[in-house]
Amino acid sequence: MRTQVAIIGGGPAGLLLGQLLHRQGIDTILLEKRSKAHVLSRIRAGLLERGTCDLLHEAGVGARLAAEGFRHQGVNVSWGEEMFRIDLAGLTGHAVTVYGQTEVTQDLYDAREATDAPSFFEVDEVTIHDADTDAPRVTFTHDDAPQEIACDFVAGCDGFHGVSRPTIPDDVRRDYEKVYPFGWLGILSETPPVEEELIYASGPHGFALCSMRNEGLSRYYVQCDASESPDAWSDDAFWAELRRRLPPAQADALVTGPSIEKSIAPLRSYVCEPMRWGRLFLCGDAAHIVPPTGAKGLNTAAGDVHYLAEGVTAHYRGDDGPLDAYSERALARVWKNERFSWWFTSLMHLFPHHSDFERNMQRAEVALLRESEAAQRAMAENYVGLPL
Ligand code: FAD
Ligand code: DHB
Repeated sequence: MRTQVAIIGGGPAGLLLGQLLHRQGIDTILLEKRSKAHVLSRIRAGLLERGTCDLLHEAGVGARLAAEGFRHQGVNVSWGEEMFRIDLAGLTGHAVTVYGQTEVTQDLYDAREATDAPSFFEVDEVTIHDADTDAPRVTFTHDDAPQEIACDFVAGCDGFHGVSRPTIPDDVRRDYEKVYPFGWLGILSETPPVEEELIYASGPHGFALCSMRNEGLSRYYVQCDASESPDAWSDDAFWAELRRRLPPAQADALVTGPSIEKSIAPLRSYVCEPMRWGRLFLCGDAAHIVPPTGAKGLNTAAGDVHYLAEGVTAHYRGDDGPLDAYSERALARVWKNERFSWWFTSLMHLFPHHSDFERNMQRAEVALLRESEAAQRAMAENYVGLPL
């Protein structure tokens, strides 16, 4: 087989890249390790920046997003019993959109299937060869049969545990990592959201986040021990823990019900530099991870895809400048989103090693955020998304 761009990974980054390139007349073959049903069932991100929405429109998959996404003009922050709202639209002129990652991937798969671009699911033994030459290849097995793709470029969109990043030699790659001493226990429940807009809550029992997918579907998270198993948490225990982390009015208003999904995610900050090696380009979680406070994971991946699609498109028009600048351009934005996610995580969580002094520093900073328009504006600019 031959194609222009071999895309490894059929998550949001790989799919979006495939669609943007398809619209420019560039051929791709996509390889995904899992089944399509598995990818579509993974409950993950829920909040899209304006720039991510613009890219989905540019990729031709914005219709359902425009009809079914919920635009939020503000976001709530609470500390103990007090809650205040940050007026995102008033401060920045922009809103964010609640639209689940499951819907984004569904729309992108529908669009890909309407084209003749090939996708292989449940592939195994994916290996990248000769990425540092002008003739890279990708080998893999599909239905136990060995396959090979010859291509111009390889896009490594295979997430944190993929094969693309380790293909970059150790003496070229530099890793930056911070692991947090807690995780998030998340549930999805068919109950109405406790508030119209999201609540990021911090209190003496730890962090909690109230989010949603629509009027009848809520997504809630509580800070927990990263080593715990979700099976150890009954629904009742989850609701009790969430309730005691919310301000009294929201705790009283909380509607509970059976969970339809429950999982624990560890929290990590991670960046790999560079994001390019020869003709291999890393995109999304393959190159970086943020802790989820601030909802930057999927949105940072979308930024990478934008820069890579621009670079590959310019290459086929005779200009290698944007492709040569890919790693630098992407990393500049990645580090800013890393900073914001680290800051918001550090501000809102209970850290086991913190002294009373450090807890008071968090309290004073939340007070500054409540009282200072300048502090709110800095938070809001990052939350709605930095320009691409
Ligand atoms: P992924 O979505 O990880 O996609 C990579 C794809 O590559 C996967 O489908 C995988 O099966 C495939 N793959 C892996 N290895 C191979 C291989 N060798 N060959 C072929 N295919 C391969 N972000 C938020 O903003 N908010 C959240 O609430 C949130 N929750 C999350 C919860 C969890 C458990 C995780 C893991 C992430 C969460 N994120 C969240 C982050 C967000 O979902 C990711 O940033 C986003 O999915 C990145 O997209 P991606 O396409 O880069 O990677
Ligand atoms: C969601 C997840 C986040 O990490 C976040 O900051 C906001 C929303 C969500 O799943 O809805």
